[in-house]
Amino acid sequence: MRRFVVVAQKARASADFLLVDIPSTSGRLDVLLRCLRAALLVSHGVRRDTVVYLVLLGDPGRPVTLRIEGSASRYLRPDERSLATVIKKALALPPATGSVTPTFSPVRAGITIAEGGIETLEDELAGSKVYLLDEAGEDLREHLPSAEDVTFFLGDHIGLDPHALTCIHAFAPHALRVGPLSLHSEDVITLVHNELDRRIG
Ligand SMILES: C[S@@+](CC[C@H](N)C(=O)[O-])C[C@H]1O[C@@H](n2cnc3c(N)ncnc32)[C@H](O)[C@@H]1O
Repeated sequence: MRRFVVVAQKARASADFLLVDIPSTSGRLDVLLRCLRAALLVSHGVRRDTVVYLVLLGDPGRPVTLRIEGSASRYLRPDERSLATVIKKALALPPATGSVTPTFSPVRAGITIAEGGIETLEDELAGSKVYLLDEAGEDLREHLPSAEDVTFFLGDHIGLDPHALTCIHAFAPHALRVGPLSLHSEDVITLVHNELDRRIG
């Protein structure tokens, strides 16, 4: 299993954004949508072995985490507007349990939602080997993960603030870089997948 946790400093857990102007009405949800595409979609297919967590911290009083599973997702198309529609519907629907709770509750096929931020993932990531994607980390090519279940944390366009880093460090991650430059989050995900794909052959 490959897991990507994208920590969004500004994106809010609200469906109240405009599909015609996602960046400026959603707290840069567009960054997360591109991460979702990079993590879950390949040409004409879905990576069934991958799970994406979108940690929405844009409303400090109400952090929420969305989990999107490649194995169960339906109707995922690669264009940003379609993905935005899927996320908008997920954020608009109350979960099956009635309200957002600290444990993941289903909202639609392949998508679950939980109240809370990074700390919500403690049970989820038990047993997974955790990495922090960081420009200052060690070279991914020299420390290619070999575990069956791996988790990669990364930031959005802003990066990870000290509080987010403190929460991530509770998982004792190994910091890795994909290359010498600071890249867009979605490109980092593509490069990580590619290195793992090449190892598998
Ligand atoms: C656009 S970058 C954030 C840039 C932000 N200005 C900063 O200084 O943190 C988004 C995220 O991608 C990851 N990232 C970017 N370049 C990377 C690299 N070369 N290796 C590993 N991770 C990288 C980091 O997790 C980063 O938080």
